[in-house]
Amino acid sequence: MKGLYSALVASAIAGAFAAPSPTEKGPITARAAQAACATNVSLSGNPFSGRSIYANKEYSKEVMSAAAAMTDSALAAKASKVADVGTFLWIDTRARISVVEENLAAVGCDQLAAFVIYDLPGRDCAAKASNGELAAGDISTYKTEYIDPILAIFKKYPKTAIALVIEPDSLPNLVTNADLSSCQESASGYREGVAYAFRQFNLPNIAMYVDAGHGGWLGWNDNLKPGAKELANVYKNAGSPKSVRGYATNVAGWNAWDLEPGEFSTATDAQWNKAQNEKKYVELFSPELKSAGMPGQAIVDTGRNGVTGLRNEWGDWCNVNGAGFGRRPTTNTGSSLVDSFVWVKPGGESDGTSDTSATRYDSFCGKPDAFKPSPEAGQWNQAYFEMLLKNANPPF
Ligand SMILES: *[C@@H]1O[C@H](CO)[C@@H](O)[C@H](O)[C@H]1NC(C)=O
Repeated sequence: MKGLYSALVASAIAGAFAAPSPTEKGPITARAAQAACATNVSLSGNPFSGRSIYANKEYSKEVMSAAAAMTDSALAAKASKVADVGTFLWIDTRARISVVEENLAAVGCDQLAAFVIYDLPGRDCAAKASNGELAAGDISTYKTEYIDPILAIFKKYPKTAIALVIEPDSLPNLVTNADLSSCQESASGYREGVAYAFRQFNLPNIAMYVDAGHGGWLGWNDNLKPGAKELANVYKNAGSPKSVRGYATNVAGWNAWDLEPGEFSTATDAQWNKAQNEKKYVELFSPELKSAGMPGQAIVDTGRNGVTGLRNEWGDWCNVNGAGFGRRPTTNTGSSLVDSFVWVKPGGESDGTSDTSATRYDSFCGKPDAFKPSPEAGQWNQAYFEMLLKNANPPF
């Protein structure tokens, strides 16, 4: 249909003007887009199929100013290509809601807008670097001042396809860090908050993927079933919303997609984990999720997993030194269980500060395999970005 519209518009223009000049391409694109965008989006099947991920302005701006700051012009040219990669936009505070609409309004009809919902009360209960603005227990603020205002904006754009990653690390932390008092305090708010997001964002143009950690987290033999049960219980408590498509893995992570043998397959504890790469994790986790009563389609963050063999331990998560950008977003995943490879973590933004005197210093960010110096989580790290770019695999 898209081809047909373009052909019709092009021939109409050709009839009116003997020789269309490049300046006339603007109206053609705009009119074709308008025609294709005439109807409400009603997603079924893979939402990424036939749609590219919108390259949001926030990340593009960061990348373009990073490119402008480079003295190596060849590297700067490569950097500017990163600005065209579609990535997820993190809504990690209430204040950040202010950028949602200007981005949503700019999404093309053959594109999909991608956001990360990330502001649960007591966020990041097992680490220190990404603690959120809402205290554990403050579920009412989460609902009324975070989810509801985002929903009000989404409702204005029924013609735009939207993919959401719901609350990275939250439910996985309840599975594996239940011994921490901070995670105990956060547990009921996480479950209620994720269920609320599921219910509220259950619109025809939205597809949701709830975070399921990665192979080195819920992939352990003993964690697969409890992990699937935790996610599926929240899903069912929310009334099994149609818009929940499955789960996201490797968000802000480092695991390879299909490396054989897996990166940690020679570790002494490897016998307890068959999910030695993300492909294996998905193949193990999806069936568990489905038998627990939840849809099991996945998206996998390949934004920073281009180089492997860098971590001393599987759990090392902070600003891994030597990393490179990974595979670009694509639906050619080679797995019917994976809707798309995606870039969720904006490469170049820090995972956490390496300043040992900072309140939010987490010891993982001081480990020997972590890049130093690194600023606070979410802050831009130019040197780290340049490293990701130089080590990109495939290269830019
Ligand atoms: C499109 O969605 C909007 C918002 O839900 C609704 O008001 C409108 O009636 C829909 N249009 C069509 C043609 O279904």
